[in-house]
Amino acid sequence: MGPKCTEEEFINLWTKLGPEGTAANLGMQVRNVYARRRRIERRLGINLMAPRDGVMPVEPTDRVRRKIELKEGVVIVGSDAHYWPDEVSTAHLAFVELCKKLNPAHVILNGDMFDGARISRHPPLGWEHMPTVAEEFEVVQTRLMEIRNASPDARHWWTLGNHDARFEARLASAAPEFEGIAGTHLRDHFPDFTTAMSIWINDEVVVKHNWKGGDHAAFNNAKSSGKTIVTGHTHRQLVRPFNDYNGVRYGIECGTLCEPYARQFDYSNDNPRDHTSGFCVLTFKDSRLLYPELVRVVKSGVYEFRGDWHDVENPSTTQN
Ligand SMILES: [Fe+2]
Repeated sequence: MGPKCTEEEFINLWTKLGPEGTAANLGMQVRNVYARRRRIERRLGINLMAPRDGVMPVEPTDRVRRKIELKEGVVIVGSDAHYWPDEVSTAHLAFVELCKKLNPAHVILNGDMFDGARISRHPPLGWEHMPTVAEEFEVVQTRLMEIRNASPDARHWWTLGNHDARFEARLASAAPEFEGIAGTHLRDHFPDFTTAMSIWINDEVVVKHNWKGGDHAAFNNAKSSGKTIVTGHTHRQLVRPFNDYNGVRYGIECGTLCEPYARQFDYSNDNPRDHTSGFCVLTFKDSRLLYPELVRVVKSGVYEFRGDWHDVENPSTTQN
């Protein structure tokens, strides 16, 4: 039996309809459509592009990228808590408080909730006591439970940071034979929070721990990604609007939920730090992001939000 259409007709169908559409139109199997495409490409020395070839890459699995839709509502993003025992930051208390007041649809912890001081690849600087992994896990579980209980209607996410990665990296390099055993993944210990490398909201906003570095990270992130992008890692806090023919998008660095000069960062030799203790509030209306808002710690027990200072309520309720 001869071909179901001429070569020219086939090329037309392929470029307009892609493989599945061409197969349906001609009453052929998809694999036979691919085979004919290859024969034509070889004979004519050309590449036949389907409508979306080279435009939309295959998406990674949902362990890596999670996509959510939000028409109306609030997303709170906090990052870089580096929780250690025996201390509760004002930023954490403010985060819990605004989780209660703003009733967010989603709460995203944007990486480095876990510090991993004992399993750093860097050598210890001295004889100072650093918490064990077990002590850190206990306090991270406590802090995350406070956040979860303050936002019962929200979905809870954790985009992984470089410090979070220390847990699995250490185990995988020291005991690779334990692959697949329950408890060897960080996520096994925090089942209320879904982990991923990035959270995509309405295909407009990407929340991930870090990408570009340097003083202009927020600008470069927005410009190069083509999306509004919310990162942590730098511990800086800013919103950088970026406008082009597509309209406005934002590079957002959301600060740290830790104190900038906390013990966790003693390795930095008490150098000045361009860090801000705080976090970020994203509000969506008609599925579009309104201007991103920042929450900033002013001094111990006081935070600034929406043009006013606020005392954190009941700090004693979350003390260790
Ligand atoms: Fe980080």
